[in-house]
Amino acid sequence: MTVYLNGRWLPMEEAMVPVLDRGFIFGDGVYEVIPVYSRRPFRLREHLRRLQYSLTAIKLANPHGEAEWTALIEALIACNEGEDQYLYLQVTRGPAKRDHAFPPVVRPTVFMMSTPLLPPDPVLKQEGVTAITAIDNRWLRCDIKSISLLPNVLLRQLAVEVGAMEAVLLRDGFLTEGAASNIFVVKDGALHAPPKDNLMLAGITYDVVVELAQADGIPVHIRRIAEAELRNADELWLTSSTREVLPITRLDGKVVGNGRPGPLFARMDALYQAFKATTMRGG
Ligand SMILES: Cc1ncc(COP(=O)(O)O)c(C=O)c1O
Repeated sequence: MTVYLNGRWLPMEEAMVPVLDRGFIFGDGVYEVIPVYSRRPFRLREHLRRLQYSLTAIKLANPHGEAEWTALIEALIACNEGEDQYLYLQVTRGPAKRDHAFPPVVRPTVFMMSTPLLPPDPVLKQEGVTAITAIDNRWLRCDIKSISLLPNVLLRQLAVEVGAMEAVLLRDGFLTEGAASNIFVVKDGALHAPPKDNLMLAGITYDVVVELAQADGIPVHIRRIAEAELRNADELWLTSSTREVLPITRLDGKVVGNGRPGPLFARMDALYQAFKATTMRGG
């Protein structure tokens, strides 16, 4: 596997960063995960826009313009195998003497790697996945795609320890998102999702799902969703770049709706697969 580190292309084992890198010391950095289908990046412009948003939010200058990022990403795809891949990009505030305040001269660290992307197991779409709820105990800037992921790590682990795929997070009695995904609620034929504010990550898949639903005439309501509505949903979905759209059919051990992936999920999955196919054809 060939990775990119600060202008160099290296085997993964040879890619090293100094121990004083602020990413390592403080978790001072941001990242992106970009799916690639048939060797074409999916929604690249949107991912690069979100990267810029995260960098601006942490006051770190973007080390590359959009054209440079695009060229680097195309090179990364080219030097890795697999028609479908997912790219991981990380930018940190680089190595510096340990001090919380920003260093006077910043030398950002840029790292990129590619991993083969397997489509979600069809059984997960046929049977649905299980999730638990948990209190969202993260900070108030969940809109930044920060590499400081310890709260997300601990929340996701809570789910894994009880055999569930995801932790669905509640803050002050309202749905925010999953530990590593966005969450949609279906009720009476309409789609409901929390607003993209500081309490959740503005998912690229979330936007695709909202756009596809609106174009297909599915009513979409972006609004705060109370815990009771989450628990009384006809359908629940989770969305992320690597897991696409998956139906949650059990929440905290109770069935969601009738316990089977619902009709709106089937419709959205078909729309999503068709949309992916247009990317693969270069659309
Ligand atoms: C906390 C969180 N929310 C939402 C998402 C979904 O974002 P995207 O659809 O851009 O992958 C992710 C992705 O991993 C995430 O970590």
